[in-house]
Amino acid sequence: MSDDIDPSGAIARMTLEEAADAHAQLAAEIRDHNRHYYIEDAPTISDADYDRLRRQLLAIEERFPELATAGSPSVEVGAAPDAAFGPVTHAVPMLSLDNAFSDLDVAEFAGRVRRHLKFAEDVPITYTAEPKIDGLSLSITYRDRRLVTAATRGDGTTGENVTANALTIADIPGTLPADAPDLIEVRGEVYMRHDEFAALNARMRAAGGEAARVFANPRNAAAGSLRQLNPEVTKSRPLHFFAYAWGALSAPVAETQHGMLEKFRAWGFPVNDRTTLCHSVEELLAVYRGIEADRALLGYDIDGVVYKVDDLALQTELDFKAQAPRWAIAHKFPAERATTVLRDIEIQVGRTGALTPVAKLEPVTVGGVVVSNATLHNEDEIVRKDVRIGDTVIVQRAGDVIPQVVGVVPERRPDDAVPFAFPHLCPVCGSHAVREVNERTGHMDAVRRCTGGLVCAAQARERLKHFVSRHAFDIEGLGEKQIEAFYEDGLIRTPADIFTLAARDRASMKKISARDGWGPTSARNLFRAIEARRRISLSRFLYALGIRHVGEATAKALARGFGSLARVEEVALKATDRTDPAWALLTSVEGVGEVVGEAVVDFFDEPHNREIVAALVTEVIVEEETAPPAVADSPVAGKTIVFTGTLVRMTRDEARAMAESLGAKASESVSRKTHLVVAGPGAGSKLKKATELGIPVIDEDGWFDLVSGVAPAGGEDAPDPA
Ligand code: IVH
Repeated sequence: MSDDIDPSGAIARMTLEEAADAHAQLAAEIRDHNRHYYIEDAPTISDADYDRLRRQLLAIEERFPELATAGSPSVEVGAAPDAAFGPVTHAVPMLSLDNAFSDLDVAEFAGRVRRHLKFAEDVPITYTAEPKIDGLSLSITYRDRRLVTAATRGDGTTGENVTANALTIADIPGTLPADAPDLIEVRGEVYMRHDEFAALNARMRAAGGEAARVFANPRNAAAGSLRQLNPEVTKSRPLHFFAYAWGALSAPVAETQHGMLEKFRAWGFPVNDRTTLCHSVEELLAVYRGIEADRALLGYDIDGVVYKVDDLALQTELDFKAQAPRWAIAHKFPAERATTVLRDIEIQVGRTGALTPVAKLEPVTVGGVVVSNATLHNEDEIVRKDVRIGDTVIVQRAGDVIPQVVGVVPERRPDDAVPFAFPHLCPVCGSHAVREVNERTGHMDAVRRCTGGLVCAAQARERLKHFVSRHAFDIEGLGEKQIEAFYEDGLIRTPADIFTLAARDRASMKKISARDGWGPTSARNLFRAIEARRRISLSRFLYALGIRHVGEATAKALARGFGSLARVEEVALKATDRTDPAWALLTSVEGVGEVVGEAVVDFFDEPHNREIVAALVTEVIVEEETAPPAVADSPVAGKTIVFTGTLVRMTRDEARAMAESLGAKASESVSRKTHLVVAGPGAGSKLKKATELGIPVIDEDGWFDLVSGVAPAGGEDAPDPA
């Protein structure tokens, strides 16, 4: 794996310290992208680029296994769930799929499957090929054949409870027939059809007002419609569902993937009718080409074809690695491309001062969407691709990702094409814009940053927008547009200004209610929405500050680790001295390595930032963080568990992941410290030792009963893992 990802051998030459640094940076970046993708439904990079980041992370972890800690995104999938919906712990984690981008990748996948199973070349292996639906995944739990919960994927372990909303989707049956098992998690994709998506947007546009916000694509529309606090809204949206997978299962249903799909169909779930059985790589690729050719005719978005080993016994044998099954792969369609003329390059200044070059294009349609802006990433990319103003460029767009310029068409370069001189001064505030050099590695940062801090209007504005955003203070009626306008007029220049806005408005002659687009009701609603946010959790508060590299997950970890804002600030200030124990304490927090730790320290070390925080806490109450996650309520929280023997309802990795998601520790060997042994058929020495030591032993069904809160048969004899 590390060969193609580390061609110059940089990883191979890294010291542990450098690797830790690079790892922290990659992890922060990946977490950020996870948040964009899974929570905000608005990814900012292509799958291929995301995949590359992940593979770099894995390559580093391969060389330095000590960096593969529980907090690493190599271990987690997705992003933590949104707190607005109650959390649901998936009985079996929802994992992700590895991607294939070429025929060769597919052949290699089939080769790995064959080698792992130790099958000779002439033994056929059957696969299913299924369209990869571009929606959002949903896990629906049926107990005693009744729909009891429906949850989004969330971070793979815990998702959001969207039961009431899922119940409004006609494609999802509320009950299952008698031949369905007592417990089953049916999984699939919620999506929206093209025609219905267009009609919905037209309706929203016609409705005007707040509702005039339209969705960028069907995937966002489906996600936005399912994740509605009001199920009535979901009900009014044209959502569909395809079933293609499952999680926990109390009894076997079929022996093959296609047998499972047939059952799903018989139970009333829509199953994609382009699903095809294949017996060779050639057949898989032929199905891929066929589906790709018909892609525009399907009526809904797909972004590839998923291949799965059909035989479920073989799937069990193949099992999972890090976070994806070995028995399946997603063969992605290439990103859509078009050529157009680059009119100009504009520099955008972000929240952290990053200068991003944006290509201003002659509008062009790429994959059904008109594109007139595309990212050029950074200074080095412009040089590397030798992009000049006036050039004809190739623009690419994959899924929801921001379009990017992938290169130029050199034959079409006009004689007067001008190379771009990247500014060394911030175009907004005129401060110096510099590329920092990492003291340890000596590498120059790819990003040039404005040094103006809050003196820079762009940074101040972007920080304010972040401050009020959905996962931060989440102030209704105060979005990007309003922040821009209030900033411009000097009404809101710092976060604390938001909370003094109403009082100042009362004393002012120029009322907000008299502004363009405002009236007495909307102004009153705004003040009310602001009042409603005077009390805020520490984790949201920390996230809202917009400290570099501190995303939601890290903010939560810091909040949990330190409990109060005063304590976070105290530790950060002490940690300016790296030899102070505070530095070790800070970097012991999950997800906080050198890079993130430094960003936290730098933030609080800056007097300007401390002033902002001080002014804020005179206006808002930051709630102290109390006890850690709800897993403490799980019957196995804090217990050490050993799984042994053959498991049929879950793989060993799933079992381990499940135990860990419930706050238990899964161990390989039985000792006096073991609290519980889950033994399947064929268990040997571990079972014997457990019996000798008097440790409770249960079977797989007993395990499911225990963790799903169902009283085990003959309740009294149920082993008590405590
Ligand atoms: S199987 C353990 N089959 O793709 C594997 N996934 O990139 C379970 N998806 O999270 C997933 N169509 O949201 C599977 N026919 C299909 C799919 C599919 C779309 C999505 C799903 C999954 C993601 C992985």
